[in-house]
Amino acid sequence: MTDPTAGPRHELAAKLTTAGALGSPAWISAFEQVPRHLFVPACWHRIAAGLEYLDSANPEQRDHWLAVCYSDTSLVTQVDSSGTATSASSQPSVMAIMLEALDVAADNTVLEVGTGTGYNAALLCHRLGDDRVHTVEYDQALSTTATAALAQAGYHPAMRVGDGAAGWPEQAPYDRIIATYGTERIPPTWLRQCTPGGVIVANLGLGVIALHVDQHGHTGSGRFLSRAAFMNSRAGGDAATVPQAAFDPAIVGLGHPADTPPDLRDDNFTAWLHLHSPEIVQVTLPGPDDSLSQAEHIFANRAGSWARVGNGRITQVGPIWRDVHDAHTRWAHAGRPEVEQIGLTVRDDGHHTLWVDNPSSTQRWNLTP
Ligand SMILES: C[S@@+](CC[C@H](N)C(=O)[O-])C[C@H]1O[C@@H](n2cnc3c(N)ncnc32)[C@H](O)[C@@H]1O
Repeated sequence: MTDPTAGPRHELAAKLTTAGALGSPAWISAFEQVPRHLFVPACWHRIAAGLEYLDSANPEQRDHWLAVCYSDTSLVTQVDSSGTATSASSQPSVMAIMLEALDVAADNTVLEVGTGTGYNAALLCHRLGDDRVHTVEYDQALSTTATAALAQAGYHPAMRVGDGAAGWPEQAPYDRIIATYGTERIPPTWLRQCTPGGVIVANLGLGVIALHVDQHGHTGSGRFLSRAAFMNSRAGGDAATVPQAAFDPAIVGLGHPADTPPDLRDDNFTAWLHLHSPEIVQVTLPGPDDSLSQAEHIFANRAGSWARVGNGRITQVGPIWRDVHDAHTRWAHAGRPEVEQIGLTVRDDGHHTLWVDNPSSTQRWNLTP
């Protein structure tokens, strides 16, 4: 009997190849052959009205579920009590970009942090063999489910429950490290557990970065490949919340005149700000007719400081606007670089330097730890 998922698998791999996310024959073949649907038997996917729940056990949903499994979309597999997504099978095109950037050779060992559903670990096992793949997940229940799905698909990587920031020292070193949850800074442990000359691919801030580790194993350096936001590490503290007072329309008239740049919502500035001050959250309130040119922006941090700015006025509590304004001034002086022009050099003592265009550029700044 022919496998009804073979067609959709090949179509997805072809789509990712046409889009430029996949390029190497070995990864194209992995996407053609590893069955994603086994890792997402029930999931939420994004539709215009919000999230739609699909369950393969429901005969009326099965065909639609299968089509969604082989579309280029992320599929949420776990939400917490407040409705926030805590695990997902990532968007295949982003997975493909990250796997290609990992630049693996057939005899490389890999550490993945953020096992999630196990689909990415399955792709790695398909490419390298079970013995070369190690994967760490924070949530015991997810790790148990992923172990079963991986076994069903025929893969048996080494699996562990724990905080991925600690890596997996007992099995180190690894030729390649791939992090599939968002992190604010590269943990020094990843550099220390990566083989000199190895590669670390991670989602840092609002972009995917590939760091090439030097021949002594003390620094990793590389550029951002593309914008992409992952779920943040579950081991970190809660994100800042924006106080209700900041949304009150009545405060607008109370603000003071200020220099409020019109491009605070520029995606490249947002990513730049996130790298400089990862603890700051930003909410944009569009102007009349949804215009961004007359938008207002609220910035808030965990210390309780917030500012509402836009259209030449500012209302603030605490010093947060100074940080945002300084970051904007630096970004503007650097020529408003796009995310792909930005790179990082990270040392094994945790020191991060951000640079524009190349590591020896004069446009470089140390990031706060
Ligand atoms: C986007 S999902 C990963 C997708 C996964 N690689 C796959 O193929 O399904 C992010 C995962 O990282 C896990 N995670 C978050 N913080 C973590 C941490 N500090 N250490 C290890 N895993 C973590 C989450 O529980 C979640 O399962």
